[in-house]
Amino acid sequence: MYVLLWRSFLRDQSLTPVTVDDYAALEPAISGQIMELHHSKHHTTYVNSFNNFSEQAASLSSNSPSDIQQHIALQPLINFHGGGHINHSLFWENLAPKKQGGGEPPSEKLGEKIKETYGGLEELKKVMNAKLAGIQGSGWAWLVKDKETGAIGVRTYAVSFLALVEGDVWVIGEK
Ligand SMILES: [Fe+2]
Repeated sequence: MYVLLWRSFLRDQSLTPVTVDDYAALEPAISGQIMELHHSKHHTTYVNSFNNFSEQAASLSSNSPSDIQQHIALQPLINFHGGGHINHSLFWENLAPKKQGGGEPPSEKLGEKIKETYGGLEELKKVMNAKLAGIQGSGWAWLVKDKETGAIGVRTYAVSFLALVEGDVWVIGEK
């Protein structure tokens, strides 16, 4: 699938959306309508909002107490929308149609670890879906590996705070 990433330009720190060639590339696994929604609504909103709040923060003075307070108030919004952008970028990066090697169940070490931890892929899907259903509003579920112990687990986060600090991420679900 020729889904292009959203590029970050470090010079002005703004994010710029790039086009997605084929929303229907993952059908029938994921409908083109859903992919278009994730790209044109969700991801676009995160990018535009991140840019908007970042620009507001950049315009504030570091010598004014009220500006510093405004900067502090903007930071959670920047984190939220920046996290949404990164999460969606991971989403695009990690999906591929069957003709490009996608659609296969995890194999080798990951497949073994899923079997050892959950009993199998279908059981993992049930756990992930149940955890996603438990999130009020929107949020994300991640299958992560603890780098110290090697254990895997499903973590859920309301809204879009980035979960990468926990370790490697293999599977992402969004609600
Ligand atoms: Fe989305």
